Amino acid sequence: MRFAAAGHNVFIGSRAHERAVAAAEEATIALGETASAGTIVGHLNTDACKMGEVVIFSVPYAGQVDTLEVIRPHITGKIVVNVIAPLKFSNGQAFAAPPFEGSAAEEAARLCPDARWVAGFHTLPAGELKNPNTNLEADALICGDDDEAKTVVLELANEMKGLRGMDAGRLSSARYLEGTTALLINMNKLHKMHFSVRITGV
Ligand SMILES: NC(=O)c1ccc[n+]([C@@H]2O[C@H](COP(=O)([O-])OP(=O)(O)OC[C@H]3O[C@@H](n4cnc5c(N)ncnc54)[C@H](OP(=O)(O)O)[C@@H]3O)[C@@H](O)[C@H]2O)c1
Repeated sequence: MRFAAAGHNVFIGSRAHERAVAAAEEATIALGETASAGTIVGHLNTDACKMGEVVIFSVPYAGQVDTLEVIRPHITGKIVVNVIAPLKFSNGQAFAAPPFEGSAAEEAARLCPDARWVAGFHTLPAGELKNPNTNLEADALICGDDDEAKTVVLELANEMKGLRGMDAGRLSSARYLEGTTALLINMNKLHKMHFSVRITGV
């Protein structure tokens, strides 16, 4: 919704076309008066990847490998932003549960080396993102090894109301962004809030 509010055409992907269409309709309605911005249309994951110039890869970690298998031919050469945080839950607490490579982002980059991988947006509150009219007042921490791709994603982040894109370094930093998601979940539960991260001293 925030990408559409910034004027971009958005293709929501799903494993089922009807779910993508329903999600796109819901998002378009939620955009309301902002709907004069970009369009939001639903497609199968493969078609959404084909159509998008930049792909946001946002499925639960359990579905990462299978989904990459399906979309791999359609993300070659494209900027793909991995927002996935592999977590486990025990005794009411969230814990980071990274794969062997250190992060979901690095695993994805190993499995699909022909995409231009970037990782970020993990530390933003999902509920706030869904209201395109509020100021986020947060930083989007973005990391990656392809500087040109990272710059594109930082610029996209800066287009969102109140959001500031912040270069978080190499793709290997994704392990810390993914892990911070566990920290924020636990803090949100403790304080009954929806926290995000802002870097100071800039
Ligand atoms: N929510 C947050 O605040 C937050 C913060 C940091 C990171 N993240 C990360 O962002 C990602 C998405 O989070 P979310 O809360 O949007 O997750 P979600 O609602 O559980 O999943 C998003 C979509 O992924 C698809 N999906 C579900 N299971 C799948 C599977 N096994 N294989 C392939 N596709 C599957 C579903 O779409 P279809 O059934 O229509 O295909 C679902 O609507 C997660 O990896 C999460 O760790 C979220």
